[in-house]
Formats: sequence, structure tokens, C-alpha cells
Amino acid sequence: MIITNTHQSILTITMSRADKKNALTAQMYQDIANAIIAANHNPTIKSIIISGSEGVFSAGNDLADFLANPNMDKDSSVYQFLTALIDCQLPLIAAVEGIAVGVGATMLLHCDRVIASEGAVFAMPFANLGLVPEAAASLLLPRLVGYQKAAEWLLTGDQFSAANARSAGFITEVVENDSALSCANAFAAKLASKPRSSLIATKALLRRDEESLRTRLDAELTEFIKGLNGDAAKEAMTAFLEKRKPDFSNF
Ligand code: COA
Repeated sequence: MIITNTHQSILTITMSRADKKNALTAQMYQDIANAIIAANHNPTIKSIIISGSEGVFSAGNDLADFLANPNMDKDSSVYQFLTALIDCQLPLIAAVEGIAVGVGATMLLHCDRVIASEGAVFAMPFANLGLVPEAAASLLLPRLVGYQKAAEWLLTGDQFSAANARSAGFITEVVENDSALSCANAFAAKLASKPRSSLIATKALLRRDEESLRTRLDAELTEFIKGLNGDAAKEAMTAFLEKRKPDFSNF
């Protein structure tokens, strides 16, 4: 099952099915998708943390579910989950302890910060299961870690350590065991002090697909002008001139 908790503008989504290594069922996918979509529309939420439980992130899709329902179409809850990840407007932070396998690993490609503990172990064993990468991993993984590393991980499905994941650029940070969630909370707390509109617009710009520099320049300019005319920027600049800290609690 999924547990959601909102505290001081941070939504935490916990995958909680420890007896099955937090393997994801159709219901869990749907519940995560719904929580993300609701957060996009909730002006009090500024970031989302996704974590596992009991020292495990997730062993990926429930393999019994795959066997029983091999027809994964666009109405399926896994598709809803993946599109919710792609369309997530808010910064998404992953706190990884232990195993992150299959979609438990590929979902990390859609996170804006991935914090994993030293003992975390990753694998994308699709080829071992007669499958292919999902979650747009075939596009995002080579982009993130380079073609050679992506080919190694996706063709072999071999496990790799947090240290290797970090040096390849797959994850952001390696922390002590059992501290991934507290580090994720510290990062989310940092974001909580910033205007929600800037977080959303910055993420949207970062996530735009490849385009010419001129197109990107213009897209940035549109958002920049919107920001300049907004109340958050006025507060930030006024605070600077008044030599005080900006108060973004209402943005
Ligand atoms: N789907 C369904 N059940 C799963 C599962 C999955 N993806 N991953 C683990 N489980 C279940 C096991 O069947 C076992 O259930 P049981 O106690 O009723 O027998 C329980 O979770 C514990 O798993 P176990 O294999 O004993 O734990 P482990 O620590 O030895 O190994 C993994 C952990 C993740 C390495 C191993 O379970 C595994 O390889 N799982 C499959 C991962 C996978 O292929 N995911 C899909 C990729 S597309």
C-alpha cells in the first residue's frame, strides 16, 4: 500500500509493502499517480518525496501482477503512474534505502534529486525478464549517464552499487545508511522557503526536450518576464534592498 503524509509544504509518498520488498501493484501505481496529480493542484505543496519502507525502496513491478495482467495499455495504472511522474510539476525527491530494482530504479530518472544510502543496490533487469526498458529509460538513462554505462546496465541487468550510481551521475548523493529520508526532508525544507511558482517554472524549463538555443532562450524569457512581474520577485528584490530575508511563506 501507499502512505501519504503532508507536512510543511512537503508531500511524502511512502511505498509500504515490505513483505514483498515494496513491489508495486496496480493499486499502488494508481494511488501514487493520484497523490502526485493532487499535489500539482494543491497550492500548499511545494515538493514531493518518494520513499520506500523498512530499508527497501522497491523491487519494481509486482511480477505476479505482470504474469496475471500482461496487457499493459494506456488505461493501465502503471501508465497513469508513469505519465504522472513525467507530468509532475513539483520537484520530486527520492529517498532510496536498499533495493531499487526495475521500475524502482527507472522511476528515479524522473526525480529531481535522488538521495541513496551507501547500502543501496540498483538494477534494471528487463532484459533478464524478456522485457525492454520502460519509463522512457532508454532515452533518459543514456542522456544522464552516457551511452556506454546505460548499455551495460540495460543489456546485462546486473546490480550496481550506490557508489557506482553516483559516479555515473544516475543519483545525486550518497548518504549514510538509514539517513536517506532525513536528507531528503532537509532538501525539501530548503525548497519550502522558495516561491512555488519559481520551483514549478524552473523544473518545467529543466525538463524541456532538446531544442535550439534560440527556442530555449525565448522559452526562458517568457517565464523570466512572468517571474519579474510576479509578487514573489517583487518581495525578493524589495527584501534585498531593505537588507532583510525575503518572506515567501505566501507564495
Ligand atoms: N514482485 C512480486 N514479489 C516480489 C518481487 C516482485 N518484483 N520482488 C520480491 N518479491 C517477493 C518475493 O517473492 C518474496 O515473497 P515471499 O516471501 O512470499 O516468497 C519477498 O518479496 C521477498 O523477496 P526475496 O526474493 O526473498 O528477497 P531478497 O532480499 O532475497 O531479494 C530482490 C530481493 C529484489 C533482489 C529479489 O526479490 C528479486 O530479484 N525480485 C524481483 C525483482 C524484479 O525482477 N523486478 C521487476 C523488474 S521489471
